[in-house]
Amino acid sequence: MDNIGDPTSAVTPTSADAAFEQAMALHGENRLDEAERLYQAALSLDPGHAGALCYLGLLRLQQDRPEDSVTLLQQAIERDAGAAEAHHHLGVALERLGVYGQALACQDTALALIPDYGDALHHRGQALHALGRVPEAIASYEAALAQSPDDPQLELALAAALEASGRDEEAFVHCRNAVGFDPALTDQLSQALGRFGQRQPAKAQAGMQRLNRYIGTFLTNQANARMGVYPGLASAPYHDVARLPGALALERNYAAIKAEIEALAATEFQAEAENLMERGAWDVFLFYERSRKNEENCERCPTITRIIEANNTVRTQAGLLYVSKLSPGTHIRPHLGPTNQRLRCHLGIRIPEGDCGLRVGSETRKWQEGSCIVFDDSLEHEAWNHTDEPRIVLIIDFWHPDLTPAEIAYLEGLHRFASFQAVSLNRYWTANAESRSQARKHYD
Ligand code: LMR
Ligand code: MN
Repeated sequence: MDNIGDPTSAVTPTSADAAFEQAMALHGENRLDEAERLYQAALSLDPGHAGALCYLGLLRLQQDRPEDSVTLLQQAIERDAGAAEAHHHLGVALERLGVYGQALACQDTALALIPDYGDALHHRGQALHALGRVPEAIASYEAALAQSPDDPQLELALAAALEASGRDEEAFVHCRNAVGFDPALTDQLSQALGRFGQRQPAKAQAGMQRLNRYIGTFLTNQANARMGVYPGLASAPYHDVARLPGALALERNYAAIKAEIEALAATEFQAEAENLMERGAWDVFLFYERSRKNEENCERCPTITRIIEANNTVRTQAGLLYVSKLSPGTHIRPHLGPTNQRLRCHLGIRIPEGDCGLRVGSETRKWQEGSCIVFDDSLEHEAWNHTDEPRIVLIIDFWHPDLTPAEIAYLEGLHRFASFQAVSLNRYWTANAESRSQARKHYD
């Protein structure tokens, strides 16, 4: 009788495969000493057991014994050259030993066997970065992120490579993502912000001055809560798309984005909750809604999600990221958004001929399929679709491009605090009906 599936069994397995299976189960539970004993048992029954050699090699890496790991993994590969995992772990061990060229070759072999092997792409990036081939490292990390989007170490590795290429703003986005996944990494973010500030001292200083002025307004905001209004940011109804790398990425990826949106069934949309319509029907498909990620919807649209998460999008409660469908005959009445800290971007997906458009301030524009319109939705705006066809746009809120990474990081912190306080704030607003009507704001 073998005892596969019962890793705690004290019975000594009689076949190498049985011992190996038990060892893997224990390894998976991080019971490393017991796993070691059973890998050894497997190898004493079959000294060439490729699986046991490979995983004992991995265990040696976890024990910080990379030389021993290399020996075992090379033996595993001699036995089974088609095991992508063995090549990958060997690459990691060689990377640990500083032999980056060989480490890279191992990851390439692993990837030739399994092209979308996320961990291999990650460590291929590490090897390339160490070899000074930074642009290739970035591409490899980006491919790895497509496989494992929630990996904080990968986000940090990409941030380091971007920073090494002088792309501080993008490095910031990924550093902040890492902290979002693992708050224990906050120090890494504050150190990165320090380095960005040293490289661009004038810009960083101007940002901190704006932030001070903003916080200064909290002293006088009792009568009229206008915490959304941020000083010193360029204000205009429409802004240049080129100032937002994320908007350009949306345009570049238009074909894939359109395909993702067109694959959504009408029933997957929900009715927009805020009562801003004069008539018609306004339906939305939400990716992020005031700091909450809609995992299911994001999974349905991987390209859109990747662009959202690789750019300075507002994913706090001050931002909305969604597909917006205006049915024929719909009119959204004039209203104001809550803050100038963001700029709102509409990517035209399906734009009917005829009378449909957007007015911001005194200027009216019409969307075009595949192009972005960037506007300040804290100014009065309205939208309508007086045609016989639905109008569909992808709406993405970006941090105002004048804001420095440090300002964004602090504003995100403040927004998190504000959502934490939302209940008491609501009570305050209800008790202050007059100020509430003065500051009447909508998110949509
Ligand atoms: C808005 O952002 O207020 C509207 O323009 C939304 C939309 O779908 O046009
Ligand atoms: Mn609006």
